[in-house]
Amino acid sequence: MSEHDTPIFAAARQANELLHGEARPLSRPSHPRIITIANQKGGVGKTTSTVNLAASLALGGLGVLVIDMDPQGNASTALGVDHREGTPSSYELLMWESAIEDLMQRSPHAERLFCIPATIDLAGSEIELVGLEHRERRLAEVLNIDDLVSLGIDYVFLDCPPSLGLLTVNAMVAASEVLIPIQCEYYALEGVGQLLRNVELIQQHLNRELQISTIMLTMYDGRTKLAEQVAGEVRNHFGDAVLRTVIPRSVKVSEAPGYGMTILQYDAGSRGALAYLDAAKELNDRSDRLVSHSEGTRDSAGTEGSR
Ligand SMILES: Nc1ncnc2c1ncn2[C@@H]1O[C@H](COP(=O)(O)OP(=O)(O)OP(=O)(O)O)[C@@H](O)[C@H]1O
Ligand SMILES: [Mg+2]
Repeated sequence: MSEHDTPIFAAARQANELLHGEARPLSRPSHPRIITIANQKGGVGKTTSTVNLAASLALGGLGVLVIDMDPQGNASTALGVDHREGTPSSYELLMWESAIEDLMQRSPHAERLFCIPATIDLAGSEIELVGLEHRERRLAEVLNIDDLVSLGIDYVFLDCPPSLGLLTVNAMVAASEVLIPIQCEYYALEGVGQLLRNVELIQQHLNRELQISTIMLTMYDGRTKLAEQVAGEVRNHFGDAVLRTVIPRSVKVSEAPGYGMTILQYDAGSRGALAYLDAAKELNDRSDRLVSHSEGTRDSAGTEGSR
């Protein structure tokens, strides 16, 4: 084996290509995909998955918008956008005070990566929303496909807080897909049943289009039997909704946000970066198999949702 065939050389080459914008472009989905990243369990990798998938797709040449729906503002931090108090944010979007194009900031990490940040204003919004008309549809009403097409956006990721409150409900009503990150640890599936029931309720009453398109295994530690068992259980339960790519537990992945970066800027040749790039490619390659209710039947997507 020459040095050019080694994994380290391949990783270094990939890092170099990425940073110099020479990565192979990804094909664009036929229409913008709006994906809610949800799991009411805290710390399972929702935000990490959101920002790293978003950055991977944007580095592949696609237009990506992350809407930070979590008052913690972690996605805004990792994407390196301003989210100090007073910054126009997802709060203004939910309150119908500003339009998407006036709220989105370009992330310094990629040419076509944008973020509508979350500021502390969002913290009180769950309560404010209760008294508003169309409280579950505030986001859906202002996130329409035609606007996204004219803005050149191929993917919208909605990063949810660790709860099933009105912010998460708004995200699920506005999206056509839910991506659930599952941590390969003890109690991984705890609460997933409740999450699935909530998705079903939203499908029945608020958003017929919604489907659980993607399950993503995160923080996988290949040295433990437990991680393997959890992964097996999740695959048995959810079938091919589960991405083949598994995100390894890696210190570098957890360090990146501390520098206002995704893993792709922090260490593009690392295992974590390569895993997110693979996961993003897999997610994008699946674009064709999604059935829209406007094109297909209720049953085909319903089956997918209940797997
Ligand atoms: N693959 C990984 N390897 C190591 N650490 C990780 C990995 N993914 C995420 N982490 C770390 O785990 C913690 C939780 O991750 P993250 O913030 O993405 O979860 P979350 O579901 O968004 O949390 P919350 O529910 O608070 O919004 C963070 O400190 C993050 O840096
Ligand atoms: Mg988070």
